[in-house]
Amino acid sequence: MTTLPARFRAFRIRDDDAGYRAGIEEIALDDLAPGELVIRTAYSSVNYKDALAGTGQGKILRRFPLVGGIDVAGHVVQSRDPAFREGDAVLVTGCGLSETRDGGYAEYARLEAKWAVPLPAGLDLRESMILGTAGFTAALALLRMTENRQVPALGPLAVTGATGGVGSLAVDIFSRAGYAVHAVSGKPEQAGYLRELGAAEVLGREALHARRPLESARFGGGLDNVGGPMLVGLLAQTAPYGNVAGAGLAASPALDATVMPFIIRGVSLLGVASSGTARDIRDEVWRRLAGDWKPHHLARIAQHEATLDTLPEAFARLLAGGGLGRTLVRIG
Ligand SMILES: NC(=O)c1ccc[n+]([C@@H]2O[C@H](COP(=O)([O-])OP(=O)(O)OC[C@H]3O[C@@H](n4cnc5c(N)ncnc54)[C@H](OP(=O)(O)O)[C@@H]3O)[C@@H](O)[C@H]2O)c1
Repeated sequence: MTTLPARFRAFRIRDDDAGYRAGIEEIALDDLAPGELVIRTAYSSVNYKDALAGTGQGKILRRFPLVGGIDVAGHVVQSRDPAFREGDAVLVTGCGLSETRDGGYAEYARLEAKWAVPLPAGLDLRESMILGTAGFTAALALLRMTENRQVPALGPLAVTGATGGVGSLAVDIFSRAGYAVHAVSGKPEQAGYLRELGAAEVLGREALHARRPLESARFGGGLDNVGGPMLVGLLAQTAPYGNVAGAGLAASPALDATVMPFIIRGVSLLGVASSGTARDIRDEVWRRLAGDWKPHHLARIAQHEATLDTLPEAFARLLAGGGLGRTLVRIG
């Protein structure tokens, strides 16, 4: 069994009498939430939720202190579960990390074996964290839509917040799966990037401003990362029996809509909650991400690389809406 260092570096979030704060601390293994597996962390990533948690701009953590980072990938160094051996490559996305348990922003992570996904053949650890929660969410959305009879013949899929992490990966995955993708973005200067990832068209955010409960049906459905009026507009422009997956609230948590798309066109609004996905669906999503839905442009989407020390800059960039693609966190 590998001997672990007595103390190691972690990006830890606290909220106590001294206020909300986060930064590097030297911690011991027993400072971490219990679990059957200890891994030496290789990579994590920065998601919107990580930026909210790391800055205190959103109520993400349900106990303090906790190590941040909702994603983690690395090699097992200790296992009390016979299903895993030292040296196995594993990943976890969501499943309470940086919410109720310590997360991936540390040199070592202690994990519950029931949520650890053996790294699927077809992905390396770095690729798995370029995907992370963002890629998992995009693929889960597509899985839910196809299970509800989404097919390319229904029309193009819109992706809002297209230059962000979930958005960039959705553009790549959906086009790879045979759909025409209409990327909706507030960054017209990134139209070339979005076309490179597979977007057939790049639209401004105003394309989703609906004036009426039903507009002409322009999309077969789509993935919404921003919420508010853009989600309402997407529902109003979705073709009969198309699916809209609601994943995000980068603009607003509000949904001020009418039932008209549902009762006149049979449009479905599907929820996407990556963190709480059941184990069998989780395994299926990772199988697809490593196989027929593996994005073709992971290297292009990995726009930024951070370390534990540069996480605050990465959070600020994301929260300012200026993030492009994914931010990988190199730890090991
Ligand atoms: N449901 C789940 O399980 C799940 C999982 C992961 C993420 N999420 C949510 O999905 C959203 C995207 O996450 P992410 O990690 O991809 O974040 P991100 O990388 O920061 O991307 C968000 C994108 O949304 C767009 N945007 C930002 N502010 C906006 C505004 N005020 N109005 C309209 N568009 C705006 C921007 O894209 P453009 O400039 O291209 O328009 C931005 O790049 C977040 O709300 C996050 O909480 C949910």
